[in-house]
Amino acid sequence: MAEEILRITGGQKLRGEITVQGAKNSALPIMAAALLCSGETVLHNVPRLTDVYAASRILNHLGMRCKMEETTAVISPEGLTQTEIPDADMRAMRSSVMFLGPMLGRLRACVITMPGGCELGPRPIDLHLDAMRQMGVQIRESQGKIICTAEHLHGARIPLPIPSVGATENIITAAVLAEGETVLTNAAREPEIADLAAFLNQCGARITGAGEGTVVIEGVKSLHGTEYTVMPDRIAAYTWLCTCAAAGGTVCLKGTAPRDMESSLAVLRAAGCRLGICRDRIYLDSSQPLRSVRYIRTMPYPAFPTDAQALICAVLCTAQGTGMIEETVFESRYKHVGELLRMGADIRVSGRTAVITGVRSLHGASVEAMDLRGGAALAAAAAGAEGETVLRGLHHLDRGYDRFAETFNSLGGIAKRTLISASEREKNALNA
Ligand code: EPZ
Repeated sequence: MAEEILRITGGQKLRGEITVQGAKNSALPIMAAALLCSGETVLHNVPRLTDVYAASRILNHLGMRCKMEETTAVISPEGLTQTEIPDADMRAMRSSVMFLGPMLGRLRACVITMPGGCELGPRPIDLHLDAMRQMGVQIRESQGKIICTAEHLHGARIPLPIPSVGATENIITAAVLAEGETVLTNAAREPEIADLAAFLNQCGARITGAGEGTVVIEGVKSLHGTEYTVMPDRIAAYTWLCTCAAAGGTVCLKGTAPRDMESSLAVLRAAGCRLGICRDRIYLDSSQPLRSVRYIRTMPYPAFPTDAQALICAVLCTAQGTGMIEETVFESRYKHVGELLRMGADIRVSGRTAVITGVRSLHGASVEAMDLRGGAALAAAAAGAEGETVLRGLHHLDRGYDRFAETFNSLGGIAKRTLISASEREKNALNA
């Protein structure tokens, strides 16, 4: 079967400016939350991603009408007729689980199966389901289906054992139309939570504390529609900064929210990049040789984000010295390391720890994206490598990056997306 590959020619210094896409991890929960609104919602700055199109398919399956026009989503409640999401749609991405809260909030019923998404180790949804039970939802499982009904959906005091982003979002979207008050403690503080709450409050919800550790939601009777602009994607922004850091050069990112990126920008400064910030712009100058960063630990926001781990890993492959990364959020988020080793990197992984010793330069190779951010990390490494890299597994990139190759090339990179036949694919694999 034919497949698409990305041929990246390394060694070009990057130069140029781009406007960063809207946040995938904000647009997706907000699109699901639009289910709660009894009027039309218009969302701007929605990135053009396969995950966004999957969310649109789910909304249309449920009976809403979701139309995508470039980076605008128009969602209207034509007639909510369905309460079950097909297994294939659930498997398409992790964010399919984000429909749990809104469907229970609006319909008091929902049938789902386990969500898909990047394979980063076990990604259970026990915290989501436990929280729904505390709000009066009855849940039973039958042949892989999770059948939820809520005769009486009521507020509750919910202490989260871990600050799960998805569980925080589902509790908020279930609570906005529940009876009474919900107090959520140890909530995730990621900026996307505050963006979701800002959207819902603009629709008439009563949410306070979103983005902090304790969120209070006062249930209301109904929500109207609104027009809203999704926040910038802080991980996409970091992706382009790391690509420039790995390749060398100077770039300017527009339409960013630097205050959401303080811990991750600090690591790029520690590695020797020169960064300038002015309102929604970030300038990066990476013309100096980079130095390793002794210790990086991924933690929930506002600490260094797990989604940036593969990206900084790619940058540190050619930084002088030895550094260590500890991945504390997901159990298995080093699949990009095996592919970086094919490019000449010197990385040793033991459990949740990776030790990176900088080499003079990476070389091109045939490599495969195993997950979304790992794939972007391989492209960043390829930008600075000597020779050509062939990147496969592009469907992972398309889930999270809006026009990845075009953006890369607009910064002076050389990336060509081509279709190769099965026989060419076998030949590539033999030469890999
Ligand atoms: C969101 O995933 C993001 N995805 C992830 O981004 C991000 O890596 C993650 O938050 C952490 O920041 C979206 O927003 C669509 P969690 P989510 O619930 O909600 C465990 C990307 O590349 N856990 O905060 O699934 C879980 O296994 C993606 O854009 C339970 O044990 O993350 C993990 O170890 C990748 N039980 C930890 O908590 C649960 O019920 C954090 O997961 C839920 C989670």
